Amino acid sequence: MSDTPYPFLRNCWYTAGWDYEVIDGKKLARTFLEKPVVIFRGESGQYVALDDRCCHRGAPLSLGRIEGDCLRCMYHGMKYDAAGICIEIPGQDMISAQHRVHSYPIEERGHLLWIWMGDPELADPGLIHDFSYLSDPEWAGLTQQAYLHYDANWLLIVDNLADFSHLAFVHTDTLGGSEDYAFSTEQEVERLEDGFQFVRWDKGSPPPPYHVRACPDAPDKVDRRNEVKMLVPGIFFMETSFAPVGWDPDSGDLEGVRQYKNCQYMTPETRRTTHFFWEYLRNYKQDDPNVSLSLRDGMMAGFMEDKILIEEQQKYLELDEPFQPRGLVADKALSHFRKVWNKKVAEENEKYPREQVEIRNPIL
Ligand code: FES
Ligand SMILES: [Fe+2]
Repeated sequence: MSDTPYPFLRNCWYTAGWDYEVIDGKKLARTFLEKPVVIFRGESGQYVALDDRCCHRGAPLSLGRIEGDCLRCMYHGMKYDAAGICIEIPGQDMISAQHRVHSYPIEERGHLLWIWMGDPELADPGLIHDFSYLSDPEWAGLTQQAYLHYDANWLLIVDNLADFSHLAFVHTDTLGGSEDYAFSTEQEVERLEDGFQFVRWDKGSPPPPYHVRACPDAPDKVDRRNEVKMLVPGIFFMETSFAPVGWDPDSGDLEGVRQYKNCQYMTPETRRTTHFFWEYLRNYKQDDPNVSLSLRDGMMAGFMEDKILIEEQQKYLELDEPFQPRGLVADKALSHFRKVWNKKVAEENEKYPREQVEIRNPIL
């Protein structure tokens, strides 16, 4: 995978971090699409995202010092404003137009930071896929919004979320329950221009272990409904209901129904590593911290099961040995997503060709 042409979409919003990661003067050094970025919050409260390499000798600005809304490189002292323009060079009056670093558009929505890695002129905040429940007091979250780092290409995580039959085998003791789940109902996949969506039912089955731990009063048998949407570049929303057997979701009757809203975001760090942000919300026992803890532990246990498998899959796919995947009917959603992705990357590369950099790094 590592020698494929630049495989990322640049002109779209990616999740970059949670707001708590840049509190109290913290500088967050994080790489997106193979570009090092430093994120911080200046004195005015404004979020700033700059190229994390000082234009002088490439020292990390994340090792620098915040001064107001500016950042000073703590190697030879160049000071950059929020737009990435150098406004001071110790011992030198002349500052040229080249003395600057790239400044990335960055926005906050519901405690989540979104970054635009492409042309700043095209960065329309209206394009952010805001998950408004993140700031809705009706929906309680985990004790802290979560982050995982994956040693795997983000599309392998998209694949994983595109087929829920894996719940039965990967997550038997956590999110899944019985193996019957894989055999129960086929997902009705709807292909979208920028992703896919599906609804998957599992009727009259025991609720999965993570839900029983959070809700010890859950009945022995429930109808489970998952409504899923996946959008480019790697944005996943899911609504889950555990309802009395025979429940009609269109009835509006929520008596005895427990509901969750889940968001998961995959942002490529490199072509073989991924940032993974997630939150799991509920609309019951919002004030009970033990339910938050239980759900966090239960979901995390499940996500670690995926992570172990996917990271091993990455290693195996990287072996110098040709591999031709053989498709299954259940691959409908993941195949469509890859088709959409490849088309969008090709269109972008044609419309906005990347600069050809002859000498990638004249210092080293
Ligand atoms: S490397 Fe930043 S001022 Fe020299
Ligand atoms: Fe999973």
